[in-house]
Amino acid sequence: MPDGTIVDYDGLIPNNVGLNADARLRKALETWHPGYIDWWKGSGPVGFQDSLVYLRTAVGVDTEGWARFGFVKMPDYRWGILLAPAVADRRIGFGVHQGEPAWQEVPGEYRAMLRRLLVIQGDTEPASVEQQRHLGATAPSLYDLRNLFQVNVEEGRHLWAMVYLLQKYFGRDGREEAEDLLRRRSGDPDAPRMLGAFNEATPDWLSFFLFTFFTDRDGKMQLAALAQSGFDPLSRTCRFMLTEEAHHMFVGDSGIQRIVQRTCEAMRAAGIDDPADSGRVRALGVIDLPTLQRKMNLHFSLTLDLFGNEISTNAANAYNAGLKGRYREDKIEDDHRLLDATYQALRWRDGTMVTEPAPALSALNLRLRDDYVAECEHGVARWNKGIAAHGYGFRLTLPHVGFNRRIGDFAGAPIAPDGTVLSPAAWQARRDGFLPSAEDGAYVASLMRLVAEPGHYAGWIAPPRAEIDNKPGDFEYVRIAG
Ligand SMILES: [Fe+2]
Ligand SMILES: [Fe+2]
Repeated sequence: MPDGTIVDYDGLIPNNVGLNADARLRKALETWHPGYIDWWKGSGPVGFQDSLVYLRTAVGVDTEGWARFGFVKMPDYRWGILLAPAVADRRIGFGVHQGEPAWQEVPGEYRAMLRRLLVIQGDTEPASVEQQRHLGATAPSLYDLRNLFQVNVEEGRHLWAMVYLLQKYFGRDGREEAEDLLRRRSGDPDAPRMLGAFNEATPDWLSFFLFTFFTDRDGKMQLAALAQSGFDPLSRTCRFMLTEEAHHMFVGDSGIQRIVQRTCEAMRAAGIDDPADSGRVRALGVIDLPTLQRKMNLHFSLTLDLFGNEISTNAANAYNAGLKGRYREDKIEDDHRLLDATYQALRWRDGTMVTEPAPALSALNLRLRDDYVAECEHGVARWNKGIAAHGYGFRLTLPHVGFNRRIGDFAGAPIAPDGTVLSPAAWQARRDGFLPSAEDGAYVASLMRLVAEPGHYAGWIAPPRAEIDNKPGDFEYVRIAG
């Protein structure tokens, strides 16, 4: 049997990393486990902890049938440590160590850099669970409630994945970092999560769908870059995490599609020709498309900040070291060293936008962000197809990358969503046309209520095209405990 294909489900911690043979690591993880459960119960989903939820659990790591569905109470979910199978004779694919055998242990010279990468990635996983903890109370259906919890338990598992790497390879430092990952809280002024977007509120289901579409997709890009890592345990960990991440983005993508569909159907039925007539559309109890656009503007711009500075020495160092590659590094045809290469960079200089070549190594954050934006464009095009299919000319668009930024070149630049450069005063005056207003938030909040009858859906969202695990449309995905 190749390494890592057998998953041990008998112990406290399901794993395919040979935990039984590693007493020191097992002890560290078992010591951490009660604190994790406390965190889950205290900062994870509010309510529903005693409800039976129809969840998929990873039971293998091969591409065929890696998951099993069944009813489980969330605190009893089998959070395991699962690595994608080892690739025989894997080599480092880029940077100054290109061609050398992939590392199975942490190279001493890169220890601090690697630890930092793991902690930053690890911190986002519990953060999103915290951000989404109140959403169960207003789920538009049991189907959606189940999807929320599926995303939540898998983000919990992603925390386990990073904690495994910290505890196995970083000794006492790693154990301290693992504790700190349970100590910080999203939005807590004293101990916030490390990245800005993960301290924002996710107040309603429209935000949740946009978060899973935009922000989980940033997670995917980061994981894909780390999956290229020359540190083989990190690569294998991330490759398996990516299989779960696909579902999170599906939840967001299909959630917005269903909202668009419902809104368009309602507008047609009411004889509304102008989707921008928000007053009439809202009277129908659906989400008007301009509100969706403003929420998109917010979530997209917050997520772009997660890519960091466009021009970054840290990114260049991580690449040179062979720790973090480009998106689909192994599919790119070039020298994978980038010493003399350049990359076209959109910069903000003295109040104007300029496009100029930057050293490709320094521009790696920007390149990953560009790859991300291209993927987002595909999703938005699908949503627009749905609008067009109902005969409306309204188009959703991604805002300009310089809009509403707090990090990088464009931080604070007064750029409109369409890319127009405004005066700071003009930008402020038009703010409520660019970003969700308090009134938008109140309207969306007014729609949010729990629909708990199997097969029923809130009036602002269409049912899904297909059920989970081929269940019938009236399947009771969550058996809510009384
Ligand atoms: Fe995740
Ligand atoms: Fe995710």
